[in-house]
Amino acid sequence: MPVKPTLHFDQITHTYAGRKLLDDFSMHISGGEWFCLLGKSGVGKSTLARIGAGLLAPDAGRVRRLGGDGIGYLAQSPGDIFIGATIFEEIAFGLSSSDHGYTNVRERVKQSLRLVGLSYLSLETNPTALSGGQQQLLGLAAVLSSQPSFLILDEPTSMLDPQAQLTVLRVLRSVVELGTGILHITHSADEALWAHRVGILHQGKLAGVGRSSEVLSDTSLLDKAGAEQPELLRFRQALTHKGIHLDVPEWSVSGMYDALLAYSSASSFSERV
Ligand SMILES: Nc1ncnc2c1ncn2[C@@H]1O[C@H](COP(=O)(O)OP(=O)(O)O)[C@@H](O)[C@H]1O
Ligand SMILES: [Mg+2]
Repeated sequence: MPVKPTLHFDQITHTYAGRKLLDDFSMHISGGEWFCLLGKSGVGKSTLARIGAGLLAPDAGRVRRLGGDGIGYLAQSPGDIFIGATIFEEIAFGLSSSDHGYTNVRERVKQSLRLVGLSYLSLETNPTALSGGQQQLLGLAAVLSSQPSFLILDEPTSMLDPQAQLTVLRVLRSVVELGTGILHITHSADEALWAHRVGILHQGKLAGVGRSSEVLSDTSLLDKAGAEQPELLRFRQALTHKGIHLDVPEWSVSGMYDALLAYSSASSFSERV
């Protein structure tokens, strides 16, 4: 079996305008792993993302990808870096030369749009005419279309309504299951629950890193990210204290609902409440 690809950030130091944003920062993610990076505004998350994408050279340290094929990057405001004159071009530019053939490219473009819930838009639409949320989804469709081994996503749901947020998280879950490694930057602890591991960027370093449910229940760590414990996690913990152990298939309200239904049909739950 081939070794899993890995993406390493090795001892990255970077100073901007006299402020040391990243200070000997190291971490790595593997193929099939979903890693969320939380942190307060202005701590250097986007700077780290740009360094990971190769768009910014750090003062010291380096980024190494071992194995795999490509790193896809979604900027925090993807509209700023759109290059296509139409939605079709924006997505097709990302496809590699092996995805040749017009019909094939058109199919791939449509498939990517369907994935993010944008198939109602005409392929001829100018990306700059889209709303911020639509631009964010288009940017995601464009990075997904080339099927890179790693994705670096800078607050990919920040401009989306709750329904579209859930769509994105479900898409991310499916690409992770196919072996993609994701570095997902967010300031939402609720969203970070979906990840396998969570790390907190604080004073240039990873202040806490571990399994998402552990990091996201640690209030002193969460304070460093200016975040609060996710409500769904608190809800599950409250049930655990009552002896009800839920297996949550998805960290959403509907996922919690499914978990409760599964629990009640598998036990005498309904008699006890
Ligand atoms: N290219 C840039 N232009 C202006 N300010 C920048 C730039 N890069 C970094 N900064 C500054 O560095 C700090 C960290 O920025 P950033 O990496 O965007 O943080 P975060 O994404 O965590 O909010 C901020 O104070 C920001 O103003
Ligand atoms: Mg940012």
